[in-house]
Amino acid sequence: MQAERESWSGKFGFIMAAAGSAIGLGNIWKFPYMAGTSGGAVFLIAYVIFLFLLGVPVMTAEISVGRFAGMNAVDSCRRISEKWEFVGWIGLAGAFAILSYYSVVGGWVIKYALKYLRGIGTGDTEAYFNSFVSKTGEPVLLHIIFLLVCALIVLCGVSAGIERVSKILLPLLFVLLIVTAAFSLSLPNAEEGVRFFLVPKLSEVNGWGSVCLNAMGQVFFSLSLGMGTLITYGSYLKKDSNIRSSAYTIIALDSIAAVLSGFAVMPAVFSVGLEPRSGPGLLFLTLPAVFDSVPFGRWVAVAFFLLVLLAAVTSAISLMEVLIAFLTGRLGMKRISAVILLTIVLGITGAISSLSNGILSDMLIFGMTFFDFMSFLSDKIIMPIGGLLMCLLVGYVWGIPAAANEISNGGKLPFRGKNLFSFVIRYVSPALIIIVFVSSFF
Ligand code: PFF
Repeated sequence: MQAERESWSGKFGFIMAAAGSAIGLGNIWKFPYMAGTSGGAVFLIAYVIFLFLLGVPVMTAEISVGRFAGMNAVDSCRRISEKWEFVGWIGLAGAFAILSYYSVVGGWVIKYALKYLRGIGTGDTEAYFNSFVSKTGEPVLLHIIFLLVCALIVLCGVSAGIERVSKILLPLLFVLLIVTAAFSLSLPNAEEGVRFFLVPKLSEVNGWGSVCLNAMGQVFFSLSLGMGTLITYGSYLKKDSNIRSSAYTIIALDSIAAVLSGFAVMPAVFSVGLEPRSGPGLLFLTLPAVFDSVPFGRWVAVAFFLLVLLAAVTSAISLMEVLIAFLTGRLGMKRISAVILLTIVLGITGAISSLSNGILSDMLIFGMTFFDFMSFLSDKIIMPIGGLLMCLLVGYVWGIPAAANEISNGGKLPFRGKNLFSFVIRYVSPALIIIVFVSSFF
């Protein structure tokens, strides 16, 4: 099995693919708003601290487990300890849950990109959006189209599909981010948006606890941790690659993309006197109102939604690969059969998610629509539990000497921060994750 396994053609390909996974909707629709409402620069400082206390160690741990075992997420965890195979299963469940709604949002992004390509002006952006997402046909069809595009990329394989596409899409994504940020910053009153997002607002911080919680949750989601993604991508890494420098580069790229998103979004929102928001409301209600009223808005909108689409595609393919690697590696399916099976299943779950905004809106799970439940399950339950178990698996079950051996390529690379890594992954990261997890329910 090992001999036939694919690998990245080089470090650059891996970094582009992993950064493509990390840079997604989370950077664009969550980060700028969270920074703005959690104390501006105060949030950014907390974010950077948690990048080091949580992001770097957990990402390093996940990649090293994957590279060590060279297998899908479930078998990689099993390779470390048979009893801990379930950590891989949790990752699989999380990847499935996220994909069940991510592709629906991907479909909405396609709709908006096409809408602006054809012309401008929806009138009441809220009425337009609500009537569109509650339809039965079009959003389901667009979700299927998004899914098929991702399936096609994954079908071509790790280096010929995911890596090749990421090497093109990620640089393009950065170009579009810089162009939209430059445009947004050139609008009148842009400083107000920059101020909202970057100026420290100590007086507005209502509780350090909530700033820290938001920052930790964001680090986790934004870096694609706890879902088996980095185990899977790490499993395609060559043995001589430098895991630590790769992790730092991925984290740096993800953070740059988050800050650039803030510059692309907030100045534009403030320049037309609108209130900032987060999530779908920002992308599909506030920003269309901005695009409808600024010069060249139509073309900026096309560039912007294309950028969001690229970010969503490169994240979705990483989640699909977690499941495909399992179906092919563990169940011995051919890649093509695995992709077809997964596309059919995700086509159905995504359709249910989409319809839960319309004709299935009465079908509630714990009081939530299917769409909201899947996002709650993945972001609030599976990710923190998966991340916590990952720290325990590496810190205690695999053990620091074995992990350090993998991270340092058998002692060939220096690993000066080994004691710090050990302390953080065994005590600090697990404690932080438990705090975030528990407090998210209050
Ligand atoms: N990191 C992605 C984002 O910021 O949108 C979301 C994500 C992708 C989370 C892949 C988890 C994952 F495994």
